[in-house]
Amino acid sequence: MKALHWFSAMAACAALAGCSGGADYSGNPGGDVDTARISAAGKTPGDWLSYGGGYEEQRFSKLAQITPENVGKLGVAWSYDLKTSHGVEATPIVVDGVMYVTGAWSIVSALDAKTGKELWVYDPQVPKETLAKGCCDAVNRGVAVYEGKVFVGTYDGRLVALNSKDGSVIWEKVTVDQSKPYTITGAPRAFKDKVIIGNGGSELGVRGYVTAYNTNTGEEEWRFYFTPNPKKKPDGAASDSALAKFANASWGDSGAWTTQGGGATAWDSMIYDEVNDQVIVGTGNSSPWNGKIRDPEGNGDNLFVSSVLALDADSGEYKWHFQETPRDILDYTAVQTLILADLPVGAEGKSKRVIMHAPKNGFFYVLDAATGKFVSGKAYSAQTWATGLDANGRPIENPAMRQFDKKPFLAVPAPAGAHNWNPMGFSPKTGLAYIPANNMAQMVQERPGGIKETLKWNVGYDMAGGLPPAYPAGALPGIRASVKGELIAWDPVTHKPRWKREYPTPFNGGVLTTETNLLFQGDTMGTFRAFNAADGSELWSMNLKSGIQAAPITYEIDGEQYVAIATGWGTSWALNWGFAWDKAAAPDIGRVYVFKLGANGKIVDPMQYVIVEEPKTKSFGTPAQIAAGFQNYSENCMVCHGPLAISSGVTPDLRWSGVSADKDSWNQVVREGILAGNGMVSFKGQLTPEEAESIRAYVLDQGWMAVRNGDVRKASK
Ligand code: HEC
Repeated sequence: MKALHWFSAMAACAALAGCSGGADYSGNPGGDVDTARISAAGKTPGDWLSYGGGYEEQRFSKLAQITPENVGKLGVAWSYDLKTSHGVEATPIVVDGVMYVTGAWSIVSALDAKTGKELWVYDPQVPKETLAKGCCDAVNRGVAVYEGKVFVGTYDGRLVALNSKDGSVIWEKVTVDQSKPYTITGAPRAFKDKVIIGNGGSELGVRGYVTAYNTNTGEEEWRFYFTPNPKKKPDGAASDSALAKFANASWGDSGAWTTQGGGATAWDSMIYDEVNDQVIVGTGNSSPWNGKIRDPEGNGDNLFVSSVLALDADSGEYKWHFQETPRDILDYTAVQTLILADLPVGAEGKSKRVIMHAPKNGFFYVLDAATGKFVSGKAYSAQTWATGLDANGRPIENPAMRQFDKKPFLAVPAPAGAHNWNPMGFSPKTGLAYIPANNMAQMVQERPGGIKETLKWNVGYDMAGGLPPAYPAGALPGIRASVKGELIAWDPVTHKPRWKREYPTPFNGGVLTTETNLLFQGDTMGTFRAFNAADGSELWSMNLKSGIQAAPITYEIDGEQYVAIATGWGTSWALNWGFAWDKAAAPDIGRVYVFKLGANGKIVDPMQYVIVEEPKTKSFGTPAQIAAGFQNYSENCMVCHGPLAISSGVTPDLRWSGVSADKDSWNQVVREGILAGNGMVSFKGQLTPEEAESIRAYVLDQGWMAVRNGDVRKASK
């Protein structure tokens, strides 16, 4: 097996100048991690070999030292500072005693998994201006390790192969058109000497695809586009025949999709199914969200948005597709965790290899992995957009959903989704899938005057829709109360919840289950818990004093079992929904915490920070100016500085910023872009001086309103 790998690598390299594939990385950590080893990951539970634990991505471990009886003795073995202050979404990988984990800005750290000692750090030097190219913070979900190399996708669209021993770059490829608003936040997956990566950007206008590269040389092996070529011509890619056969006719010939790409970006789950030798990929929402702007002539399903597709692992050729949200208009991505398992859902209760999926749209799907055929499905969350699924798994829509131009539509699930990227897990012991779910609603309404090309989100709806125009006395607790999180233990055979737990905020962490029926999960308030996976009872908890959204892992070294979790405040939740702030943990740099039985290490106190103060100057502005400021703010600034100008702590709170107090400083930051190198890009092309000033009037007014309403907390730590 090994020899064959090297032989093919050398042969490929002989034809390529400057190819480094001939070098031998087999003595590196993870030097023998190949397709066979990842396929057998369940048999070597001491390591955590890929993003979801193994190719089936169940996030279930056979390790059994930590049990419901002794879990109370878990303590901190070590912690490590990721040194970045944006969100942390990574699942670490552990192999041969080394942990590979990513922080914000796609920075990779290699650590001694027993002690936390830093072995090396690789910083891809992502330009901070690219913050404005993504919807949801400069996050990264992790790396892939294969034959002694570590692969990371960078926020600015590169795929980099690193030497797992020292972090030096072996090869690097730009995988996107960097003039467009593409980003990479997802973890690559590796199999059969290939590494695959997708991209994101559907909120800003791009065309989604996934690409496979040769792990040794970085050469492109195949690419599959998920929306038609804008001229409906072949791209010379693996997707050509499938787009011609299924997708082209499902779009009209005009509209924003022809210039902006249509979306369907594969930014999270993409798994290798070794039984069927195929890659299964979930695709993102359509772009822009407003279907009347996106595809005004057409009335088709807009394939392959919001779909699950299987592609041949070697050629990338189409095998099957299943669309979950036809002609999506609500940002219902289908990129969420794909899990492979054998379930008793065949004829007469026979076991069948299936895919389990709980995408944003609120339905739980079980699909036949070999054919993509719908096996069964049911709603796992409240819904206003559909009343159920038909016999083929197609949603039965509520017609009011598409009439948002006549009457604003209250969308449940909200575009943030009943389940977002926070990894779901499946325990073959309990037979349950565990969904970190969200309860949110959002008003969807037409933007007066049609679409506006904003620098940031460009979705074709009124971004201020449903928000109160001014900071209202007493209303915030109500807004906050209407959003919640849940952990749902879902029976995928009967399609019923076995048990549920509620959280005061959405976007809580991903899950891990173990052989001893433990379930680990953290929440955005910073508490990390162990539950009994069978009944949901709580067995252990610890306050890590920093928000948790990523998923834990477990591994074993020298006979001791460890549990690890990456923490950090940020991600789409903190960036885009700042008013959840006071229920969440303090903003802080990212950290990795690792636990074992009997350890008693310390939890690090968060950095000192200022919560809220009084605005630094008087308010000004006529009611009309403030109203215009509300619209301009909501369209241009809200997605980073928070709705109603309430910051979550990832970006400065503009209501009491010294910059807001001074017209010239404001202009320098907002229009001249003097902080662009820190992620605050120039809005010169989007905002006139008057418009920029209207925003200043609005944020100061919001600040004074907060003072009048007594919702001001002083500096604290
Ligand atoms: C892509 C995300 C993003 C968007 C969109 C964005 N900002 Fe920012 N903004 C930031 C970041 C990050 C910082 C912090 C920069 C730093 O650390 O110096 C910042 C800082 C600022 C500051 C400086 C505050 C201080 O106290 O230092 C002002 C003023 C500001 N933004 C105004 C705006 C306005 C007005 C808009 C909309 C027109 C806007 N921002 C849109 C990310 C964003």
